[in-house]
Amino acid sequence: MNTDEIILILDFGSQYNQLIARRVREERIYCKIVPHDIGADEVMKLSPRGMIFSGGPASVYKEGAPLCDKRLWTLGIPILGICYGMQLMAKELGGEVLKAPSREYGKAELLVIDDKDIFKGLPKSSICWMSHGDHVSQIPRSFKTIAQTTNSEIAAMADNSRNLYGLQFHPEVAHTQMGKEILRNFLYGICKCSGSWTMKSFIDESISKIKERVGHDKVVCGLSGGVDSSVAAVLVNKAIGRQLSCIFVNNGLLRKSESGEVRKTFEDHFHMDLHYVDAEERFLSKLKGIEDPEEKRKIIGNEFIRVFEDEAGRIGGVRFLVQGTLYPDVIESTSAFGGPSSVIKSHHNVGGLPNDMGLELLEPLRELFKDEVRQLGKELGLPDEIILRQPFPGPGLAVRVIGEVTMERLNILREADERVLNIIKKSGYYNKVWQSFAVLLPVKTVGVMGDERTYENVIALRAVTSSDGMTADWARLPYDVLEEISNKIINEVQGVNRVVFDISSKPPSTIEWE
Ligand code: XMP
Repeated sequence: MNTDEIILILDFGSQYNQLIARRVREERIYCKIVPHDIGADEVMKLSPRGMIFSGGPASVYKEGAPLCDKRLWTLGIPILGICYGMQLMAKELGGEVLKAPSREYGKAELLVIDDKDIFKGLPKSSICWMSHGDHVSQIPRSFKTIAQTTNSEIAAMADNSRNLYGLQFHPEVAHTQMGKEILRNFLYGICKCSGSWTMKSFIDESISKIKERVGHDKVVCGLSGGVDSSVAAVLVNKAIGRQLSCIFVNNGLLRKSESGEVRKTFEDHFHMDLHYVDAEERFLSKLKGIEDPEEKRKIIGNEFIRVFEDEAGRIGGVRFLVQGTLYPDVIESTSAFGGPSSVIKSHHNVGGLPNDMGLELLEPLRELFKDEVRQLGKELGLPDEIILRQPFPGPGLAVRVIGEVTMERLNILREADERVLNIIKKSGYYNKVWQSFAVLLPVKTVGVMGDERTYENVIALRAVTSSDGMTADWARLPYDVLEEISNKIINEVQGVNRVVFDISSKPPSTIEWE
């Protein structure tokens, strides 16, 4: 990572911050999202090539609106203000911002007045994406208007001599046709970046940071076999080797052969110190007689913590805990306007480990996005089976055995699930869908096999497409794939005589059944 070349993104609460950061990284330039009130001294320490002031939901003229350190305008570092960022720039430097006569939301025609600098190479007219209620009604004296839209007389402004630029629209969203070119002009033309950031440089830099922070101390990592914890573990292992102990808890709620595969990958391939804890009995006895989904989740979460504590205690003298926290999680919890997203955060934590475990957190992925983590995993030599894995819920198969979780029911589900997975993989749908899995229902139905009446379980097949798991649609799997899954399960899995396909979207349903 070439930290000579960092771009800072000041967070004014925009829902698009992650997207801005992503776009900068796509240009192979390292960037960091920082709070909007970061001090000028701190900025100077980081010595960025440029700063991007994000959008945000506030009005700059209202009491309590998020501001920035006034000295930032005078550091001589190029600044690009987007939406709220532009309005703040206008207001702070002597212009005027008012409520717009009409809200502008959606696509608008961008008419470029000055096709130099930030708009170099742009056509006179293109589509941009707007989302604002306020507008700059008067630009500061040293600025000029460089673009308009039908509804915004001042859609963009610039003070070229000070390298200050403001855009009322969002160049980071895909709907802005020339968004990439505009950001490129800013990053390369104005900030003079060279674009030398790569995953390889990220690995080298991370390794030296981890080594320095950890010293000779011991580190533990809760390994689930999912992408994030796996990549985090391998990265830390590369830095400090056997000082890292990974704890893999077999809670008895895993897919068929999952625990074996994870052990094989991490012990054999990466030669890690892997502590395999067989806690199947502990979990299943705690779940005995429990049918309520929330109660199941709580029991599993608690038990996981207990098992983890026991094992960390056995290892002894541990100072750090590795977590596979990603950038979106960090942003959710540090956004200027916190909101309900901070509640969502706790679900992302590894098993929701409590603070009183007294461990310091090591989060080597906290600056990356999911697909960058996959790229990193590839660079680190992790096999595709892990890198391209579909998400799997923390409480595992317990939330897919509807009703009471027993060993017998788990085994029926495991068998059905294995067949679903194999067929989905074979058909090429595994990576086209977000998730695909079987659910065991707590009802029995009548069937006929040979000449015999059967009275057995129902498996529901769930397959969804989604970009982030927040919303989802049922996957339009081909009939022949559905047919093969149904036949295979009913013919081969003892105790199942019917398969149904879940055709509900999220919302109003959820992806998991519990
Ligand atoms: P729902 O069922 O809420 O799931 O639509 C959204 C996504 O989150 C996964 N999921 C979980 N992941 N711990 C996790 O790490 C959990 O407790 C959990 N519950 C649901 C689910 O598989 C889907 O991808």
